[in-house]
Amino acid sequence: DLVPVITIDGPTASGKGTLASTLAASLGYHFLDSGSLYRVAALASLRQGVADTDGPGIAALISKLRLRFDGPRLFLDGEEVSDQLRREDVGSRASKISALGDVRAALYALQVSFRRPPGLVADGRDMGTVIFPDAALKVFLTASPATRAERRHKQLISKGISSNIDDLRADLEARDARDRTRAIAPLQPAEDALLLDNSAQTVDESVAQVLGWWEQRT
Ligand code: C5P
Repeated sequence: DLVPVITIDGPTASGKGTLASTLAASLGYHFLDSGSLYRVAALASLRQGVADTDGPGIAALISKLRLRFDGPRLFLDGEEVSDQLRREDVGSRASKISALGDVRAALYALQVSFRRPPGLVADGRDMGTVIFPDAALKVFLTASPATRAERRHKQLISKGISSNIDDLRADLEARDARDRTRAIAPLQPAEDALLLDNSAQTVDESVAQVLGWWEQRT
């Protein structure tokens, strides 16, 4: 498969989504927010009352999902669920079910299908390690926990939701610990990933940095 892929992996609230979607727009590439697939599986399983420990049950449900992607908007059975996917309970369930091998396997083919000409930018936890191991450029994006908690806090404020920054930080550190220590597809940089800490960078600076790396590769 010669369609080029750039992968952006990293922990919660590191700015992966913003970086990846901006890169995709500037290169004219497709964009995959793989976390949204774990979130939509979480939402569907919540609605159907499937336990968050039932890997085969959730995998069966995933195979029947009718999804439509329209830029950043995601439709489930014709209903736009983009906002519901951002809910805290949905994110927390996504984190739990993402540790189940059956769930990860059920989402594999769907993720690979996003690789279409002229290219793809994919963000998640295992894009460079498991889903697109032959990606032309792999970035592992990090930021300090304090920076990430602050960004999440501002995001919530902009949506009119109040939150406590210490609680947010504790929550994201717990989620990262779970992603890093799980047996299947743990969050870790691919051996050939370039590390980028964007704690002190603006989005434009991070984008410019990755575009610079991309130009050196092509
Ligand atoms: O990135 P986002 O927060 O939307 O992802 C939701 C959850 O899905 C994460 O907490 C992580 O546990 C899981 N995930 C994953 N592998 C991916 C993307 C997300 O395990 N490639």
